[in-house]
Amino acid sequence: MNKKTILVTGALGHIGSRLIRDISRTAAGRIILLDNMESQRYVSLFDLPGDLGYRFLEADIRTSDFGTILSEYQIGAVVHLAALTDAANSAGRATEVMDVNLDGLKRVAEACRAADIPLFFPSTTSVYGSQAERVDETCTELKPQSPYAESKLAAEQYLAGQKANGLRFVVCRLGTIFGWSHGMRFHTAVNKFTWQAINGTPLTVWKTAWRQKRPYLDLGDCVSAINFILERDLFDGEIYNIVTENHTVEEIVGAIKAFIPSLQVSYVDSPIMNQLSYDVDDAKIRAKGFIPHGDLHKGIGDTVAKLKEIMH
Ligand SMILES: NC(=O)c1ccc[n+]([C@@H]2O[C@H](COP(=O)([O-])OP(=O)(O)OC[C@H]3O[C@@H](n4cnc5c(N)ncnc54)[C@H](O)[C@@H]3O)[C@@H](O)[C@H]2O)c1
Repeated sequence: MNKKTILVTGALGHIGSRLIRDISRTAAGRIILLDNMESQRYVSLFDLPGDLGYRFLEADIRTSDFGTILSEYQIGAVVHLAALTDAANSAGRATEVMDVNLDGLKRVAEACRAADIPLFFPSTTSVYGSQAERVDETCTELKPQSPYAESKLAAEQYLAGQKANGLRFVVCRLGTIFGWSHGMRFHTAVNKFTWQAINGTPLTVWKTAWRQKRPYLDLGDCVSAINFILERDLFDGEIYNIVTENHTVEEIVGAIKAFIPSLQVSYVDSPIMNQLSYDVDDAKIRAKGFIPHGDLHKGIGDTVAKLKEIMH
């Protein structure tokens, strides 16, 4: 296949900082990195591989002229990672979250549609919210529980409406990421628990959550899924769940304890906890040939190894 120049927005974040190093060399010849430094992860730009051409644009998706960027750099595909991503704190900045995550996406998507350039959009499995049973992409009772998840669902719905207008895109509902990268963040479940364990901080866990499953995604699997889509030009307007495995809190704590046996856990009551259970099926992307290979133990072990010198 012809190698493309890929525009990666939000390129310096947790996912982007791994993707821009491990992007498929079959699909990508050059990468244009766009980030507004909201997350201040300059470190993500250190020591990039020498075999790919990079160009960094310090720019905001709310104001960038995407029409000019797409034509000036002859972009062949867009991986749109830029977003405000701290779901737990999104309630305090709901308007800004919508501005960036929905209106920003619309600006990127409109430029892609006009230039006939395919768009990868990462949504989240948290659009499922509380579910009684295992769910797949056919689920119509979506229950996003935060402004962040609401913004992602609204973006999905916007993209679905653009299919008829000729936009080529794919939506991947990513499980919660675990695993190390240069631009790693620690505010999602596995990473946060691992960070606390490394620092000797006891974990507080809701009793009702202990045996409830949620979908998790190894960062390596996430990048492989993006590469899988780029290599196959799988911009079919569909939604795919991307999940390494569904795990209970008990399993996550057990995996961390394997590396940090001194980890203390206390259990508290929470009346709202059953809202957070969702067990997600990824058969649809597997049927296309994508098989995740990640492993919770390895992901946690890698993170612990990176921080072993500060371990309590
Ligand atoms: N990490 C996860 O667990 C997870 C799960 C599901 C979906 N996703 C989605 O994947 C994408 C990447 O996630 P991540 O974990 O790498 O997030 P991240 O927060 O680590 O990175 C996001 C990047 O976007 C940049 N950014 C924020 N606002 C911007 C703006 N207005 N203009 C330009 N850049 C901006 C930030 O500076 C940051 O570098 C996001 O869209 C997120 O919603 C992530």
